[in-house]
Amino acid sequence: CWLEDLKEGFEIMNKDLLSLWDLTADEILGLIQQAQALKQSKKSSEALHGKSLALIFEKASTRTKVSFSVAATQLGAHTVSLEEGSSQLGRGETYADTAQVLSGYVDGIVLRTFAQKNAEEMAAAATIPVINGLSDEYHPCQVLADLLTVTEEKGPVAEQTVSWIGDGNNMTHSWMIAAAQLGFSLKIATPEGRGPNAELLQKVQAMNPKIELGHDPVWGVTDATVINTDTWRSMGQETEGDLLPLFGPFQINAGLLQKGKSDAIVLHCLPAHRNEEITDEVMDGPASRVWKQAANRLPIQKAILLKYLVKD
Ligand code: CP
Ligand code: NVA
Repeated sequence: CWLEDLKEGFEIMNKDLLSLWDLTADEILGLIQQAQALKQSKKSSEALHGKSLALIFEKASTRTKVSFSVAATQLGAHTVSLEEGSSQLGRGETYADTAQVLSGYVDGIVLRTFAQKNAEEMAAAATIPVINGLSDEYHPCQVLADLLTVTEEKGPVAEQTVSWIGDGNNMTHSWMIAAAQLGFSLKIATPEGRGPNAELLQKVQAMNPKIELGHDPVWGVTDATVINTDTWRSMGQETEGDLLPLFGPFQINAGLLQKGKSDAIVLHCLPAHRNEEITDEVMDGPASRVWKQAANRLPIQKAILLKYLVKD
C-alpha cells in the first residue's frame, strides 16, 4: 500500500525535527503513544538529567516556549533562553556559527524563526538536534500535539476527515504532511489566492489523494470530524487592512458549524484573533477543544525531547 512505500524512504532517523517529513508515520504514532503514556504516569522523571536545551525565539511565543521549558524541567533538564535582540544572532551572527558554538554547550536547540532555511542552516552546522518551534513554512510540534488531541477525542487519526478553514499557512503545511504520512482525509478551504504552497500540495496529493483544496468553506466542513482554523495574520506576514471581506465566509461561527457534522470538534492552535477567524461563541462553546489542544503541547514536547535528546 502507499503507506508502506512511503516508509521505505524514511528509514534513517533524522537528527533534527525541522518538519514532519523528518518523521516516519510510525514515529509520529510513536510520539503520540509516548505522550499518552506520559500523561498517565504521574511520576516525575530524570530521563534528561544533566541535559541542557537552548530555546531561541525570534518571534513571540507563549505556548511553545513555556511548554518546552516546563517539559525539559520536568524531565530533569535545564533550559537557556535566547531572545532576539539579546543574543548575537540578533546582531547578525549567522545561524551556522551560532549552531557550532551552541553544539559545544547544550544538547539540543528549539528554534522559532522566520524562513525555514534559517532552521536548515542551523541544523546543518549543529552536531546536536535542532527542533523547529515554528517557521514561516511549518509548525511540526503544534501538529503533533493536535494529532494527540484528535486521537484522544475522536480515535485513530487515519479514520478522520480533517478540515482546514482559512489561510493556507505554516499550520496548513504541517497538517498536509501529516495527512500524507498518516493517510487521513484533509479538506483545505481557503480564499482564492490564499491557498497553501502549490508545490507541496502537488507532492502530498501524489501520496494521498484524499488531500483536497477548495474555496468553499461549507464544502470544507462537510463530513469533517475535526474542524481546524488559525489566524488570518501569521507572525511576520501580517497583512495590513481589513481581512474580513476576503476571509469573512471562512470564519468559524455557529452558522458554519451547523453545516458540518453535529459531533465535529473545533481546533485552533492559538493565539486566536477572537471574532475574526473564530467567534467567541464557538471558541468557548461545546465543540471547542482548544484548551485541551493547548494543554497537550506539554506531553508532546516531553515525548519529542525524549526522542531527540536521549541517544538509544
Ligand atoms: N500555538 C503556538 O505555537 O502558540 P505560541 O505562539 O504561543 O507558542
Ligand atoms: N500561523 C500562526 C501560528 C501561530 C502559532 C503564525 O505563524 O503566526
